[in-house]
Amino acid sequence: MQSAIDNTLDIQQIRKDFPVLDQQINGRPLVYLDNAATNQKPTAVINALTQYYEGYNANIHRGIHHLAEQATAAFEASRRAVQAFLNAKHWEEIIFTYGTTDGINLVAQSYGRRFLKAGDEIIISTMEHHSNIVPWQMLCEEKGCVLRVIPVDDNGELIIEEYEKLLSERTKFVSVVHVSNSLGTINPVKTIIDKAHAVGAVVLIDGAQASSHLDIDVQVLDADFYVFSAHKLYGPTGMGVLYGKKAILDSMPPYRGGGEMIKEVSFEKTTYNELPYKFEAGTPNIADVIAVKTALEYMDGLGKENIAAHEHDLLKYATEQLGELDGLRIIGQAKEKIGVISWVLDGIHHQDTGVILDQQGIAVRTGHHCCQPLMQRFGIAGTTRASFAVYNTRDEVDRLVTGVRRVQKMML
Ligand code: ALA
Repeated sequence: MQSAIDNTLDIQQIRKDFPVLDQQINGRPLVYLDNAATNQKPTAVINALTQYYEGYNANIHRGIHHLAEQATAAFEASRRAVQAFLNAKHWEEIIFTYGTTDGINLVAQSYGRRFLKAGDEIIISTMEHHSNIVPWQMLCEEKGCVLRVIPVDDNGELIIEEYEKLLSERTKFVSVVHVSNSLGTINPVKTIIDKAHAVGAVVLIDGAQASSHLDIDVQVLDADFYVFSAHKLYGPTGMGVLYGKKAILDSMPPYRGGGEMIKEVSFEKTTYNELPYKFEAGTPNIADVIAVKTALEYMDGLGKENIAAHEHDLLKYATEQLGELDGLRIIGQAKEKIGVISWVLDGIHHQDTGVILDQQGIAVRTGHHCCQPLMQRFGIAGTTRASFAVYNTRDEVDRLVTGVRRVQKMML
């Protein structure tokens, strides 16, 4: 079936930008619906990587030769592009990391170990990915801080009244996901941040799933920290961003020691570099950082609002179509969602669903999605999850629905 908004974006043309989509899996054209795990890369991004390795591969910041200067300029141009993407006030507020998980660990280990102490409370939520739970648990174990958790209602929305009850002068840190990877729920992060600031707490927002779907303005949000990964916004794997307010980052000790993060080293005393280099020890992921700029330009070229509208159309269509199947229960029916739909089938294990869909060339994710506490909240072991990107179509949703019918026919 044709999308209602195909006149805004030419999806068939866009699909040609993604070489990986043009293949058969198990004798059927690939339907890639695992975009929340990682989305596919356009040729422009792949070319940016190749151009670096073929044309100007060199280490950055240290060399004075031509290639080193070219690589440094491209690397730092990416930092400016990310600054614009987030509307950060200062370019030094953009720290390149290895991904969302790395960014959260950096903050927990640097800010947390320096500024949090026994009895301080850290608030997270039931719908956090393990990467926004475990680093805080590790910190609590070491420092004697206390972890508090915002509950989730039956629709998969955070219960803000319960959050308000958790807040007190003991709350020193709040770390919450912008968009749930397993349910698609868009959380009211501006409200969460304002309420945390009212009690003097510092806030980190995990933007891993939000970054390719929503407009992010860290100044409007007033987020103290914002983290995301490149590979979920059409960029390379192994690369991410930590945004932090300059004054807070300046007050934090380095996370990793090594080259680049120092001013001067002697055996008596080492002095540390300025922001952002203080947090970028060692040779970074140069090619991938450079390619992020291309990924951001690619999204800009399509228009983030157009991408969001298209994905929303697919979500609405998939919710209607899957919702009609007997024995299928959608987990997560928040009012505000991105293009993620999770479900369970009566009497059928999600892993069987995933395998049978794969036999039909349909890639989805199954399991707990690194959100075991959230699955426990819903009393399930896991779900099957389809997640959409700009290149997906209503025809692919139809293939998914037919595929799920087939699963039921085979298994019941
Ligand atoms: N966090 C990624 C997901 O949701 C891997 O699938």
